[in-house]
Amino acid sequence: MSRSQNPYVGLDDAELGSEEFAKSLDATDVLSRLRQEFIIPSKGDLKSKRYGPIPRRAAQPSDESVAADDHEESVYLCGNSLGLQPRRTKEYVNRYLDTWASKGVFGHFKDLEGGHPPWLHIDDAIKEQSSKLVGALPSEVVVMETLTANLHLLMASFYRPTKERYKIIIEGKAFPSDHYAALSQLAHHNLPPSALIMITPPSPESPYLSNEHILSIISRHSSTTALVLLPGIQFYSGQFFDINLITRHCHSLGITVGWDLAHAVGNVPLELHKWDVDFAAWCNYKYMNGGPGVIGGLFVHDRHGTVQEAATVEGSEKQLAYRPRLSGWWGSDKSSRFRMENVFMPISGASGFQLSNPSALDMSAVSASLDVFSLTSMDALRERSLRLTAYLEARLLRWDGGKPPYTIITPANPAERGAQLSVLLVTGLLDHVLEYIEERGVVVDERKPDVLRIAPAPLYNSFWDVHRFVVVFQEACKGALAAKK
Ligand SMILES: Cc1ncc(COP(=O)(O)O)c(C=O)c1O
Repeated sequence: MSRSQNPYVGLDDAELGSEEFAKSLDATDVLSRLRQEFIIPSKGDLKSKRYGPIPRRAAQPSDESVAADDHEESVYLCGNSLGLQPRRTKEYVNRYLDTWASKGVFGHFKDLEGGHPPWLHIDDAIKEQSSKLVGALPSEVVVMETLTANLHLLMASFYRPTKERYKIIIEGKAFPSDHYAALSQLAHHNLPPSALIMITPPSPESPYLSNEHILSIISRHSSTTALVLLPGIQFYSGQFFDINLITRHCHSLGITVGWDLAHAVGNVPLELHKWDVDFAAWCNYKYMNGGPGVIGGLFVHDRHGTVQEAATVEGSEKQLAYRPRLSGWWGSDKSSRFRMENVFMPISGASGFQLSNPSALDMSAVSASLDVFSLTSMDALRERSLRLTAYLEARLLRWDGGKPPYTIITPANPAERGAQLSVLLVTGLLDHVLEYIEERGVVVDERKPDVLRIAPAPLYNSFWDVHRFVVVFQEACKGALAAKK
C-alpha cells in the first residue's frame, strides 16, 4: 500500500480540514472510549511548575496566572517517548503501598482479598498479558530489569563469538544505548570496534532501509557474523522492519537475531513465537504507559529456554543442561528458591533469565497498563492506529500555498510504519516551531537538528487531537518561515 491508498488523501480540502470531520471520526470509532482510561494533562498542567494538576478554577479577568484555555486538554502526541498515565495506575500503586504498610514482609506470601496475588507471584498474570501483546507463549516472556540491561543480559547468553563468527550487525542510526551496548559487548570479548557492522541507508537524503538492502548487508557478512541486533520500529524514522523476513534470512545463514522492541510493543501486532525470533527486549514506558523508567520485558524463544537433565556418569550428581546465561536467584526454581542451597536450577523459559526479585511498585504500574490493553486487542488497536496515522499524514500533506516546508520521512507504506510519523523540517525552523506549539499545549518529540516525531497513540489519542495538532503546527511553520525571511 502507498500514500495513494490513504483513505483520506482524496477528500476535498474543506471536508478533510474541518473540525466536524475529525469529530465524526471519533464519534463513530468504538475504541474512542479508551481515552477515558487515561489522565490527559491540561494545557495549564503542562505549563505549571506544580507537580500535580493545577487547581480547577475558572480564569478570572483579574488573575493573570490562569489563562483562558488552561483547563483545555493538551494535545499529547508523545507516547513514543513517554506514554500517558492510566487512571487506574494510582489505585494499583496505592494497593501496593497499603499492602506494604499493613503486611510488611507477609506481602510477599499472603493471598489478599479480591484475588490479588502475593508479591511472590505478582508477575504470573503480567507475563501472560505481556506475552499476548508480543505474540509469544507465556513461558517465553518475563518482566524484569530495564531495556538496556536486558539487551546486555540477552547478549551475554546469545552473543557467543568464535574465531570465525564474531561480528555484530546493527543499523547505522541505532538508538545510542543499543550502539553502546553492542560495542561494549565486543570490547568485553576483546574484539575491536571494527567488528561492529552498521547498516546505513543507501541514500543520504532518506533514512529508509529497504529489505533488499538489509538482507544484502547481512548476506555480505554472513560467514563472519555471530549476531544481528535490530529495532522492530526505528526510533528516528518510525520504519517498521519486516521482523519475520529478516529473522528467517539470518537463520538461513546460521546467524542469531535479537530485536529491540522499544517502539514496537503496544504499537503494532507482533508474532515473536511464530516468526521464530531468538530473543527480544522492550521497555514498558512508551506505548505501554507503565511510567518513566519502569521495569522492562524480554522474550526468549522456547527452543532456547529448555532445561534438561544432562547425561551423567553413573553414580555422579544430577546435572542440568541449559543455555548459558548470567544468573541470579530469581531465575532459579521457585519451589526451592528459599532453601538457600546454592544449586541453580533455572526455571524453564524466559523466567530462568531473571536475576533479582522484581520491584512490586513497578509491577503494579505495569499491571495497571496491561489491564487497559486487556480492554481491547492489538489487532483492533492497529486498525484504529492505521486510520489515525493515515489521517495525520493526509492532513500534513495539505499545505495552502504549494509545497510544505517539511517532508514526512517515515515510509508511506502503512505496513512499514507504526503510529509515528517523523517530519523533517526545512533547516532553521525547528526551534521557532517547537516554541510556538509548546506555548499552545501541543507536545511532540524533537530530534535535533530538524526532525519532529509525532505519534498518535491509538489507546488515547483522538482524531480531534490530530486536527488540533495540524492546525497549530502549520501556523507555527508559517510563523517560522516569516521570521526567517
Ligand atoms: C530504541 C531504544 N532502545 C533503547 C532505549 C533505552 O532504554 P532504557 O533507558 O530503558 O534502557 C530506548 C529509550 O528510549 C529506545 O528508544
